[in-house]
Amino acid sequence: MDYLLRSARIIDVPEEGGRHIDSQLDLLIRDGLIADIGKGLAGGKGVREIDLSDQLLLPGLVDLHVHLREPGHEYKEDIESGSRAAAAGGVTSMCCMPNTNPVNDCRAVTDLMVRRAKEAGLARVFPIGAISKGLEGKSLAEFGEMQEAGIVAVSDDGRPVMDAGLMRRALEYGKTFGLPVVQHAEDLSLAEGGVVNEGEVATRAGLRGQPPQAESIMVARDIELVEWTGAQYHVAHASTERSMALVRDARRRGLPVSCEVAPHHFTLTDIECENYDTNMKVAPPLRAESDRQALLEAIADGTVDCIATDHAPHSGIEKDVEFDCASCGMLGLETMLSLTLALVEDKVISLQRAVRLMTSGPSELFRLGNGIGTLEIGRPADIVVVDPNAHWVVDRNQMQSKSQNTPFHGRKLPGKVLFTLLGGKVVFDSKEYCQ
Ligand code: DOR
Repeated sequence: MDYLLRSARIIDVPEEGGRHIDSQLDLLIRDGLIADIGKGLAGGKGVREIDLSDQLLLPGLVDLHVHLREPGHEYKEDIESGSRAAAAGGVTSMCCMPNTNPVNDCRAVTDLMVRRAKEAGLARVFPIGAISKGLEGKSLAEFGEMQEAGIVAVSDDGRPVMDAGLMRRALEYGKTFGLPVVQHAEDLSLAEGGVVNEGEVATRAGLRGQPPQAESIMVARDIELVEWTGAQYHVAHASTERSMALVRDARRRGLPVSCEVAPHHFTLTDIECENYDTNMKVAPPLRAESDRQALLEAIADGTVDCIATDHAPHSGIEKDVEFDCASCGMLGLETMLSLTLALVEDKVISLQRAVRLMTSGPSELFRLGNGIGTLEIGRPADIVVVDPNAHWVVDRNQMQSKSQNTPFHGRKLPGKVLFTLLGGKVVFDSKEYCQ
């Protein structure tokens, strides 16, 4: 079906602080591609026209950090249910982490992920390959064969690369293939099994804490290695004030260092763990208010390159247990857009910056190509339409994900996804807008 999307506020920010669109325009979709953007476009025979006055039209969102759990943990999520959750959240492209079973450390697993995502057909899925075989931190995985099969970066996410020598080789090897190296920054000797942020809340709750330095010391070490190797390095789910200072300084020195921040880290703090709600348990842990404020500052000043969810589905088996024993992780795909729009509502960032952080920013970082994250004419029509004035209440029982471990259950959030198109095909439609 061809569509003429009429009179939406169209925002597209393909360049940091540069070329952009932000005005009330029409967008024409033909044969799954963006055919034209302009005022008073003509539709014609067989074109379905949809009036979108007062609505926002954005490039489909891009999430560089999700756990789709397939292969191996399909009872929590699979590529199809994760893609459905993405579509409901306005996400049309996402990168999935390799901590599956088997681990994505070889061509066969990457092939499987790519094939399953195509079969589901609800989102573009770009696998991230493991840095080390089996995520064991001992020897490097085969970056080259995984890249041929479709990986766009490497990471041992869920586990840090503790060994500096291995990290050096990962950076050198990654550089040869043009693959960004993504670090789960957590020095295990400092984290010492801590289940919450070290501080007052941990002490009061009687829970073992881990200090913010467990993250920033790893980031500092890695930046030394980046300076040495010149390789592209990305900090996953950065959560502390010191990490922001280190990344900001590295960038000032022209190093190829980037970072992402997750919505739960810029929205919540460790206070949420006081009543032992395991949905608040995540790695890295929710931090202190001073860290949260530093993240907001870094999101606003350009230190942060993108918002990424760390969508980490878990079932009751992992979450309905004592806080100490619960698995780390939270759902994210279906709430990222609204939590980021909340930053606009709170005047932390402009709407344009919010769009950049969720679209072209991440797409550029991992070189996803094909116009992903932008509204380029002639490229596939990956689009999300949002009612910016609607508010909705998060309900864990209404999630498209197979899991329910959202920390935002019961919260009222701004911005409702009306529908999502992937290559011009409707992959989510809240109210049969596209019928
Ligand atoms: O909380 C987390 N959960 N952090 C990670 O880095 C991994 C993830 C998971 O796989 O559950």
